[in-house]
Amino acid sequence: MARLGLAVCAAVCFHLCILISSSSSIPAETGSHAVRRTAYHFQPAKNWQNDPNGPMYHNGMYHLFYQYNPRSALWDTGNLSWGHSVSGDLVNWAALPTALDPTSPFDANGCWSGSATILPGGLPAILYTGIDSRKQQVQNVAFPKNPSDPLLREWEKPARHNAVIALPADVPGDRFRDPSTAWLGGDGLWRTAVSAEVDGVASTLVYRSSDFLRWERSAAPLHASRAAGMVECPDLFPVAEHGRAGLDTSANGAGVRHVLKLSVMDTLQDYYMVGWYNDTADAFSPAEPERGDDCRSWRRLDYGHVYASKSFFDARKNRRVLWAWANESDSQADDVARGWSGVQTFPRELWLDEDGKQLLQWPVEEIETLRRKRAGLRRGGTRMLDAGALQEIVGVASSQADVEGLFKIPSLQDPEPGGGREAGRRPKPAAGSPEAVRREGRHRARRRRAVRAPRVGLRRPARAHRRLLQGVQAPRQVQTPHVH
Ligand SMILES: *[C@@H]1O[C@H](CO)[C@@H](O)[C@H](O)[C@H]1NC(C)=O
Ligand SMILES: *[C@@H]1O[C@H](CO)[C@@H](O)[C@H](O)[C@H]1NC(C)=O
Ligand SMILES: *[C@@H]1O[C@H](CO)[C@@H](O)[C@H](O)[C@H]1NC(C)=O
Repeated sequence: MARLGLAVCAAVCFHLCILISSSSSIPAETGSHAVRRTAYHFQPAKNWQNDPNGPMYHNGMYHLFYQYNPRSALWDTGNLSWGHSVSGDLVNWAALPTALDPTSPFDANGCWSGSATILPGGLPAILYTGIDSRKQQVQNVAFPKNPSDPLLREWEKPARHNAVIALPADVPGDRFRDPSTAWLGGDGLWRTAVSAEVDGVASTLVYRSSDFLRWERSAAPLHASRAAGMVECPDLFPVAEHGRAGLDTSANGAGVRHVLKLSVMDTLQDYYMVGWYNDTADAFSPAEPERGDDCRSWRRLDYGHVYASKSFFDARKNRRVLWAWANESDSQADDVARGWSGVQTFPRELWLDEDGKQLLQWPVEEIETLRRKRAGLRRGGTRMLDAGALQEIVGVASSQADVEGLFKIPSLQDPEPGGGREAGRRPKPAAGSPEAVRREGRHRARRRRAVRAPRVGLRRPARAHRRLLQGVQAPRQVQTPHVH
């Protein structure tokens, strides 16, 4: 991460909220590996997981599907399935049998990422990428076998229709994937966005359909960039210009902006641009065109190892919720020894900042049901700590804890990792010119915001005293946060 000008005193205030994981549905493990499992991030009992797939709220139940290797803790030893779990509250999950398995000619070598869309009348439909028997990427559809099963345990892949989108002639067989949640245009046609490399250009293609079975490619891509290399996992969703309420994926019109999120293989990071989507030509106009077409210069969704994110509209609480995959940082041998690899980030609520360009994120409020015991620096105490200082918090006996910290950092330099593409890209105006002064002000504001929760890039403006850092394990001592 970026080197911040942190050689200053920072006022740091910590509360530790101890999590007791007994409410979790994750089976208990014994030995040292159990300690390393997270009590509140989503994990299957064992094996490999990566991208979140088809998240949805349906009939009072949250569903999460995910890329899953039923055979091992590694990605490349077998053909991927869709794991499936359900939850009433986004916190406690029950594992179900895999929803999609690579059993058909159109997905024989793997059921790769995709999305769920709730059709009018309430029937959910899955669009996913199959690696077919010729090892080519194609897009398939699946429907619940018994739509009145409250858990939607079994899914059918209609052989008569699949693959519903064949590999186009101008796209290589290994560069065509990840159909997005579909949305309805004003013409009554469904649209889905699919990542493809078209004649060497990373493209987000749009396909239209009246029946979810026959799909036709729109003339122009939603986004294209020669520079970015392959992009994946497109997510196009509306956000309200004002306020926190989420919008159904088909919403558009006055007071609505759209977010285009792309995952870039080159950097293994997720980037987004806020803008406007016009369904006449399936065109996306960026709110910050000066960042260019190369999405590596767009805003980053997260500053950790977080990839392949996907959002859904939660009609139960009227909010947009984001899932993303966080991978392991140790070796494959460690993964094999543990028997599992990968977690999903805790689901986050997403909404648009008042600046109309930046997303705000915060763990869904249900996380608070996990908090049990509070420990801290004297109640509500604030203490000045020098950079690098250690401050022990007594009374933490749990192996996992939520840490809330408040940072006051008078000056920061260069919060973007590695100097930040965007920082390096723009020509600097002459020092002291009105443009330079304005720009400096903007940068300062951005830095101040960016640092509030540097580990996860989360912030909630109205509650300055509650900054939450996730994933901190066994914090016997809390170190003054170094952002690097
Ligand atoms: C993956 O699927 C292909 C095609 O069906 C099959 O030949 C191969 O054995 C499968 N791999 C594993 C590890 O099951
Ligand atoms: C959408 O694009 C069409 C042409 O591509 C244009 O006629 C129309 O005015 C646009 N709509 C909005 C709301 O900008
Ligand atoms: C996974 O973790 C490694 C090591 O931390 C990192 O270098 C890599 O970019 C990560 N991959 C993804 C897909 O996030």
